[in-house]
Amino acid sequence: MPSLRNLWGRITGKDANEHFPKQQGKALGALGDFLSAQPYGLYANLPQGQLFKVIDEDGRVILGLTVERKDNVEQNEVTLWHPGTGTNIHFKNSGNLDIDTAVGNGDININTVNANLTASEDVNVTCKNADIIASDDVDVTCNNASVTAALKADVNSDTSTVTCLTSLAVVAPVMTFVATTSLTFTSALTSFVGPTMFTGAMTNNGKNVGDTHGHTQANDSGGNTEANTGGVV
Ligand SMILES: [Fe+2]
Repeated sequence: MPSLRNLWGRITGKDANEHFPKQQGKALGALGDFLSAQPYGLYANLPQGQLFKVIDEDGRVILGLTVERKDNVEQNEVTLWHPGTGTNIHFKNSGNLDIDTAVGNGDININTVNANLTASEDVNVTCKNADIIASDDVDVTCNNASVTAALKADVNSDTSTVTCLTSLAVVAPVMTFVATTSLTFTSALTSFVGPTMFTGAMTNNGKNVGDTHGHTQANDSGGNTEANTGGVV
């Protein structure tokens, strides 16, 4: 029987999902099932029409071959790519590792236990919307934190604490504090600058200084009883 090694053919069927990768192909005008050999650690479900070469004497094992090239790959560079969509991982001569799925209009999905990203300099994220969903905590530790929202910033939580070592300034044309139970200012000196209106009972060290407070008055020096002034008019 003549050696079938080095025959060329083309794939006609997808991986049959059997124990070993097996795909239908056509070589020398005849259809057959072929074991698709792959470089260790790599796997591709070869597409329809993919060129292959028979690599064993019996004509059962094939190697899918690509004669296409990804654009813009310099000499010495390495790329792993999808010839159909163009998505790729590109190891560049500059030392950069470029991952591009936008060229194929696709996403990058990473499924892992813990994701650790260490950058000696900057981490820059540029996107349309950024969502961080954590089932437990989100901790941000830094020297300076700035949040700039062109429209609005909402903080919704069960309990929130803002701790500043030096100062906290909140600047807005209109500020509203709504506390259904209590609101407490504790400081060495609290100042309200500008017209101030209080609605409701006012006490200072337990004494009524609001609109319902009154005065008591002892008898005058002649012993005459002085009437209570009646408080604030
Ligand atoms: Fe008074």
